[in-house]
Amino acid sequence: MAIQTKMATGTSSSSASTLADMTSGGGMAAPAARTHDGPLAIEARNMNIYYGNFHAVRDINLQVEPRKITALIGPSGCGKSTVLRAFNRMNDLVASARVEGEVLFNGRNIYAPEVDAVEVRRRIGMVFQKPNPFPKSIYDNVAWGAKVNGFKGDMDGLVEQALRNAALWDEVKDKLKQSGYSLSGGQQQRLCIARAIAIKPEIILMDEPCSALDPIATLAIEDLMKELVEKYTIMIVTHNMQQAARVSDYTAFFMVDPKRTGHLVEYGPTRQLFTNPKEKRTEDYITGRFG
Ligand SMILES: Nc1ncnc2c1ncn2[C@@H]1O[C@H](COP(=O)(O)OP(=O)(O)OP(=O)(O)O)[C@@H](O)[C@H]1O
Ligand SMILES: [Mg+2]
Repeated sequence: MAIQTKMATGTSSSSASTLADMTSGGGMAAPAARTHDGPLAIEARNMNIYYGNFHAVRDINLQVEPRKITALIGPSGCGKSTVLRAFNRMNDLVASARVEGEVLFNGRNIYAPEVDAVEVRRRIGMVFQKPNPFPKSIYDNVAWGAKVNGFKGDMDGLVEQALRNAALWDEVKDKLKQSGYSLSGGQQQRLCIARAIAIKPEIILMDEPCSALDPIATLAIEDLMKELVEKYTIMIVTHNMQQAARVSDYTAFFMVDPKRTGHLVEYGPTRQLFTNPKEKRTEDYITGRFG
């Protein structure tokens, strides 16, 4: 998607680098065994995140494949949400949070001073744990992002398409003017996904998107993710190991050290990580021996 943004302008000579240039060589350990050398969707390099003096996560190197689902798993407090939020600068909204290192997106560090965080969040959308529709109509929830971005085209068409893509259209097409709050929890979460899709992001970050949902709504969201991944890159935090195994292509397993600093223990293709983990700690976690 060739969107011209602030991220692509007014930078130093390194701006000419492509992501492919930047990821080849450099002596950086690649945590996942890549099966090809095409461009990544996004990549964290030597990322450390602090809340005040607390070192929340350390030395994260994570290469995220495009148009795949990458799951982040690990025990509570290991930094999954913190890491996920770092991929679209959502931690900027936490006053005490500080991110060090780089997150490369289309060859550009999203933390570089000239990069506009709002633009980053437009291109890398987020769906939260609790469905959080705005106190607006179903229609306006979906139209909101496009309106804010000055979209002047066919808004009805855009809203319909986003709701169709979020597998919600048939359930709401006759009540678009009703409040988003009038929907069930699972419908509200699909509304939030429609809202995220409507701004045409390249990556969608989801932080435990199914934790407030029943098994049927959960499966609906999982099916939806499998459809969305044909167009989007998805990163999902989940506590549900079956869910990670069911939906994701890659899994990153995090743990905390004795100082409670989170770190990446193992990252690889989901099937391999769940059936033949390299690390004893991964095996213990996925077999339920701790965590
Ligand atoms: N706003 C904050 N201010 C201070 N510390 C925070 C903040 N948010 C998270 N932390 C701390 O950072 C660490 C990682 O938290 P994070 O929420 O990323 O973990 P998590 O793996 O997502 O956990 P859970 O599975 O419970 O959601 C924890 O020790 C947490 O207490
Ligand atoms: Mg969390």
